[in-house]
Amino acid sequence: MTEEIAVIPGDGIGQEVVPVAVSVLDEVGDFAFTEYDAGDRVQEETGEPLPEETKRAAETSDATLFGAAGESAADVILPLRSAVGSFANVRPARAYPGIDALHPDADLVFVRENTEGVYAGIESDLTDEVRTLTRVITEPASRRIAEFGFDYAAEHDYDVTVAHKANVMARTDGLFVETAGQVADEHGADHETQLMDALATDLVMNPADYGVVICPNLAGDVLSDLAAGLVGGLGLLPSANIGPERALFEPVHGSAPDIAGKGIANPIATVLSAAMCCEFLERADEAERIRTAVMEVLADGPHTPDLGGEATTEEIESALLARL
Ligand code: NAI
Ligand code: MG
Repeated sequence: MTEEIAVIPGDGIGQEVVPVAVSVLDEVGDFAFTEYDAGDRVQEETGEPLPEETKRAAETSDATLFGAAGESAADVILPLRSAVGSFANVRPARAYPGIDALHPDADLVFVRENTEGVYAGIESDLTDEVRTLTRVITEPASRRIAEFGFDYAAEHDYDVTVAHKANVMARTDGLFVETAGQVADEHGADHETQLMDALATDLVMNPADYGVVICPNLAGDVLSDLAAGLVGGLGLLPSANIGPERALFEPVHGSAPDIAGKGIANPIATVLSAAMCCEFLERADEAERIRTAVMEVLADGPHTPDLGGEATTEEIESALLARL
């Protein structure tokens, strides 16, 4: 079967790194790619950063590969994530041999609830001086993210930690932790729970003690960015936004206007996002081939300037294709 992949390069270095991921996917498998527009450039031309056609493509394609948007990022990426029905944001943060990382032994995967918590969008002005925000935690969403996290951990052989602050937010995070505990029992899986502030300290000091970290929305946002700093920076970090039937894959980084157009953007984060895409499409062999090529190129070089090298994006592409 040929899966349809919607390709949305977007702005800045999105235009440079996404084509590398597409040629890598094309090398390992049989996919049908269709390219769509989104981002600042489209907004300047039409007044709208996310064309209806692009949103529909995300809603109907088997998977979507996104690069980055610039200033319009929130207006592009949030609707695209809902277009695929994303409930889980998966962010692996792993150090690789050959890369100068703070913690060469870190191998973490953040599984972040992606629909509620403090990002449910329920804010109001109570008076001129008082503003409030409602934090929403539901049993179904907590169950869905916990099930995803425990399945992922079992499949990839990781321990599970559930991050929370139930000592203060007893009703909401209490429900999150309790539900995760039930799911752990149903899966016959071990897990630990940890207060998210203490976890932040321990992640900096002993990241190798952790594997899959299941988080409510805000905690997952912050802790996964923290973890990015432990393993060598933004040019290496992929992510997946998983829905019940579809998913969107994107590097964690943005459009990097400071280096856009110079041909030196690191394409690895996007290539690793493409590997996650293969895995989602149940093409484990293709995913493994891509990851192996990435690990070989990271170990032996060449490297782009963000990793201390002098290679261009194109040279990384050639090195990856040669390994494949
Ligand atoms: P950024 O991730 O674009 O860049 C941060 C720093 O990391 C820059 O110095 C950049 O050169 C470097 N960097 C990022 N990716 C790299 C790569 N692949 N290779 C080499 N170096 C890389 O974040 P920043 O600067 O905060 O935002 C720039 C623009 O991107 C803004 O307009 C922002 O709105 C947008 N943005 C979009 C996102 C998305 O589309 N998902 C996410 C984050 C930011
Ligand atoms: Mg963030």
